[in-house]
Amino acid sequence: MQLKGKNVLITGGTRGIGKCMVEYLIEKGVTNIAVIARDKKNLKLLSEEFADVNFIRITGDVANIQVLRDAAARIEDKWGHLDILINNAGIVAAGPLEDIQDEDLYDQVAINYTAVMLLTKYCIPLLKFSEDAYILNISSGLGLIGMPFYAVYGSTKAAVRQFSDSMRRELAPFNISVTCAFPTATDTEMMQKFTGRKMDAPDYVAQRSLEGLLKKEIQVIFGGDDRLKENTLNFEAPEELDKQVAQNYEERKTASLDHKAV
Ligand SMILES: NC(=O)c1ccc[n+]([C@@H]2O[C@H](COP(=O)([O-])OP(=O)(O)OC[C@H]3O[C@@H](n4cnc5c(N)ncnc54)[C@H](OP(=O)(O)O)[C@@H]3O)[C@@H](O)[C@H]2O)c1
Repeated sequence: MQLKGKNVLITGGTRGIGKCMVEYLIEKGVTNIAVIARDKKNLKLLSEEFADVNFIRITGDVANIQVLRDAAARIEDKWGHLDILINNAGIVAAGPLEDIQDEDLYDQVAINYTAVMLLTKYCIPLLKFSEDAYILNISSGLGLIGMPFYAVYGSTKAAVRQFSDSMRRELAPFNISVTCAFPTATDTEMMQKFTGRKMDAPDYVAQRSLEGLLKKEIQVIFGGDDRLKENTLNFEAPEELDKQVAQNYEERKTASLDHKAV
């Protein structure tokens, strides 16, 4: 599949993994990119950085239904159809469940999950007009294995995985493929708290996820063999993983405190 000439919509394309995906798409010849993000200044900077690209800049919160409806309407008006939808925007607020603020719990569900379902819903009619359409959803390794102190974030990301599976099967007759990516710790502002720790580079995660989209891979799982083994253990012998997690419980708890990027 040639990326050149495709119409792309991405949420959270102004920073981190999302910005790297925008850069990769441009490098591969994409010139029509719609981006949703809250910070107007960053959207403007993006369009100034890539002056040759036709951006549709949508300033707003993906948790706001009207922002999502307007985004789909603007794309329909301007391009008539959409080829690639990338649900990337996400936030995290970790810690023991009893300490997570109610608003942060609601926001993680609304931004990481509800928005993914609604935006996909609004975009399906536009994707159906494409000859070959693609959806890429960015989940997380924490969406594959439920870890302590990430109950809310991990649940939203597990929901994205389930949603991706359902939609892949539901949209198969319309030639719309669905890929779900599961990054592990990646060096972005979301992980600022862990500076110094070994992490994946955002441009690597972006490129590998988009390669997965192009090859219509069902899942792109980061973290290498160790992560794959852990996933198998979690599925086949969860009590064994429980024991491993219990061994560094306090360390995990301390690391999760103040891990907040909202
Ligand atoms: N970094 C990691 O270690 C890691 C690991 C696994 C999965 N992930 C997932 O990868 C995705 C990207 O993460 P990242 O690390 O690149 O994050 P990031 O550096 O914090 O960037 C987040 C992007 O999403 C946008 N965004 C956040 N909330 C939004 C909202 N309510 N409405 C619209 N746009 C919003 C931000 O722009 P504004 O702030 O201007 O809105 C920004 O462009 C997320 O879904 C995250 O959960 C990340």
